[in-house]
Amino acid sequence: MRVLLTGGAGYIGSHTALVLLERGYRVVVLDDFSNSSVEAVRRVEELTGETIPLIEADLAAPGAAAVLSGVDFDAVIHFAGLKAVGESVQQPVRYYRTNLDSTLNLLDLMAERGVAKLVFSSSATVYGDPRYLPQDEQHPVGVGLTNPYGWSKAMNEQIIRDAQAARPELAAALLRYFNPVGAHPSGRIGEDPAGIPNNLMPYIAQVAVGARERLSVFGDGYPTVDGTGVRDYIHVMDLAEGHAAALEHLTSGVTAYNLGSGTGSSVLEVVRAFEAASGRPVPYEIVAPRAGDVAETVADPRKANEELGWRTTRTLAEACRDSWAWQSSNPHGYRAERTA
Ligand code: NAD
Ligand code: WQD
Repeated sequence: MRVLLTGGAGYIGSHTALVLLERGYRVVVLDDFSNSSVEAVRRVEELTGETIPLIEADLAAPGAAAVLSGVDFDAVIHFAGLKAVGESVQQPVRYYRTNLDSTLNLLDLMAERGVAKLVFSSSATVYGDPRYLPQDEQHPVGVGLTNPYGWSKAMNEQIIRDAQAARPELAAALLRYFNPVGAHPSGRIGEDPAGIPNNLMPYIAQVAVGARERLSVFGDGYPTVDGTGVRDYIHVMDLAEGHAAALEHLTSGVTAYNLGSGTGSSVLEVVRAFEAASGRPVPYEIVAPRAGDVAETVADPRKANEELGWRTTRTLAEACRDSWAWQSSNPHGYRAERTA
C-alpha cells in the first residue's frame, strides 16, 4: 500500500513515515515546509534505506490537487496544518484558512481519485475543558473551546464526518493525540520548533542544553499532585505506531480514537525526569498560569487498545532520554546541516 503523508516532513509525520517504511508500506510526502525541513525527510531515508518521493506544495492553495496528478496512493494520513495555539488567537483567519482548506482540498482530491482511506491528525484539544477524567471518546467535543486552533480541529472532524456521510465508501480514523513528546531513539529526527518553543518538553530540552536560561512553569496552584499542570505525555514513536495501527484497522465509517498513555504527569515531574535522563539541571521559576490552560488532561485509551490492538509501550523517562539524544546532538535542530 502506498500512503500519502500530508505534512509528512513535520515532527509527527517524519516519525510516522519511518514506522510505515519499516513495516513495508511505501510513502509519499507532501509538505510546504512552512514549519519543517527537507532534512527531516532526508534523515528518514537515511534511517530506513528507502527513498521518499517528495512534493513541495501548499495543500490549502486553490488547485493544490494538480501537483498530485501523476502520483498514485491508496490512503492518506493528513498531518498538514498549523498547530500553535497562541498564534491561532493572533491569526485566526490564517489558521482557519490553512487548517480547513487543506482538508477540503484533500477530500475533493480523494473523491476524484477514488481514494477511500483517511487517517486525520486530530487533538485532545477538541474536548476543551475536561468534564471528567480520564477523557474517553464520548466526552463532549467542540464545547467552549478557547482558541481557533482547537475549533479548527473540531470543525475538521465534522467536515470529515459529513464528507463520509455523502461518500459512504470513505473510511476515516480521527486520531485525538494527547501530548506528543520524545524523538526517534537514534537522535537523528525529532521536534524542531521554530523560535521559542510553545510546548513543555522542547522548552525543557533547550534549557538543559544551555540555549535558554530557565523554564517558566505556568502556575503551581492547580488542584493536582504538586499544583502544576498535568498532561498525558505520549512518546512520538508510540504515536507513530498508532497511525500504522489505525491504517491497518480502518473500517467503514468515521471512528475517533484517543492516542494517549492513560497516565498523567505534572510539569515538575517532567522536569525531574528530564534532569535524570540528561544529567543536566533544568532551572525553573513559577510564573502566572498561561491563559487557556486547564489543570489536567488524561486520556482513556481503552478504545484504541481494544479496537486497534495498540497501546503505548514507552515511558516518560524514555521520551526524555530520546528527546535529549535529539537535542544534544542537534542543538540547532535541522538548521546546522541545512546551512552548512
Ligand atoms: P508540524 O508543524 O511539525 O507538522 C505539520 C507539517 O505540515 C509541517 O511539516 C508543515 O510544514 C506542514 N504544513 C503546514 N501547512 C501546510 C500546508 N498548507 N500545505 C502543506 N504542508 C503544510 O506539527 P506536528 O506536531 O507534526 O503535528 C502534525 C499534526 O498533528 C498537525 O495537524 C497538528 O495540529 C496535529 N497535532 C499535533 C500535536 C502536537 O502537540 N504536536 C498534538 C495534537 C495534534
Ligand atoms: C504542557 C504543560 C503548561 C510550557 C498543547 C496544545 C494542544 C496540543 C498539545 C496540538 C501545561 C506547562 C508549558 C512552558 C509550562 N497540540 N508549560 N511552561 O498546552 O497541554 O497542549 O500541545 O493539538 O492542543 O494546547 O501542551 O506542552 O504547551 O504544556 O509550565 O514553557 O506544561 O502549562 O501544564 P498543552 P504544552
